[in-house]
Amino acid sequence: MDDFAGRVALITGGARGQGRTHALALAERGADIVICDRCADSPSVPYPLATPEDLAETERLVTERGRRCIAVQANTADHAAMVDLVARANAELGSVDIAIANAGVSVADSVVQMSPEVWNEVIASNLTGVFNTLSAVSPGMAERGHGRIVTVSSMMGRGANPGLTAYSASKWGVIGMTKSAALDLAGSGVTVNAVAPGNVSTAMVHNDALYAIMRPDLDHPTREDVAPIFTMLHGQPVPFLEPEEITHAVLFLLADASAHITGTVIPVDAGAAARVSA
Ligand SMILES: NC(=O)c1ccc[n+]([C@@H]2O[C@H](COP(=O)([O-])OP(=O)(O)OC[C@H]3O[C@@H](n4cnc5c(N)ncnc54)[C@H](O)[C@@H]3O)[C@@H](O)[C@H]2O)c1
Repeated sequence: MDDFAGRVALITGGARGQGRTHALALAERGADIVICDRCADSPSVPYPLATPEDLAETERLVTERGRRCIAVQANTADHAAMVDLVARANAELGSVDIAIANAGVSVADSVVQMSPEVWNEVIASNLTGVFNTLSAVSPGMAERGHGRIVTVSSMMGRGANPGLTAYSASKWGVIGMTKSAALDLAGSGVTVNAVAPGNVSTAMVHNDALYAIMRPDLDHPTREDVAPIFTMLHGQPVPFLEPEEITHAVLFLLADASAHITGTVIPVDAGAAARVSA
């Protein structure tokens, strides 16, 4: 269980959800952890984002596992904040040699009515934020000749669905960025890969705003009411995956033994990718 002993891992969006499970799995395997999260709601996002208490709880859970943790309230759309965070981590914990660009938002909106504010929020958080993360960590990794970067796309980054113009555009963009960055870094011992999750049981999915879009025929749809709709997005007959299932694929890509896996995308989506690609 000490596969990542001595490593320093940066996880964006680490206050809750998949970011938290990635952080805890790495801490349990010996890595020191750096997490950031905006910990503030956005007027363009119709569900609550993480809170400072969520961020403090992830920090507590990491330290409870015997690892050091830097936890910072920062927006990945802020390039200077990401550069500062990596510099602080390098100074206090040691060189950041693992990065998971996980922070993101989901807004379901049709191109017919989407405001520029919604578009800008989704692109800033899901695409520019990933670039800022890569930009902050990759120079040091390339100089040291070692690094593992995992970006988080989505099954909606490999296909399309109504009402997901901005989200799909951002997540397709993450895949293009990942593949190109993998080639930029191909000679430097740094790998860059993406995971593309299906429906994952986190607050991004389990919220009233999305439930209402999934079941417009009901006044107060419940998890049970929306489950059949979510199931249709997958190939296997399951509505939701657990965050730990995504962590499993992330750990595989972060392993030393994955040195020659780069520029690829691992779908963890209950078979959804079988419908869209070879
Ligand atoms: N839940 C799903 O079904 C699903 C499916 C496919 C992909 N994803 C992707 O997985 C990633 C993790 O999402 P999750 O399911 O854990 O949801 P989540 O909402 O629980 O976690 C996302 C975290 O990112 C933070 N965040 C959002 N924008 C940020 C920004 N600009 N700067 C810093 N922090 C920011 C949020 O506060 C939150 O803590 C996201 O990129 C999401 O798009 C999720």
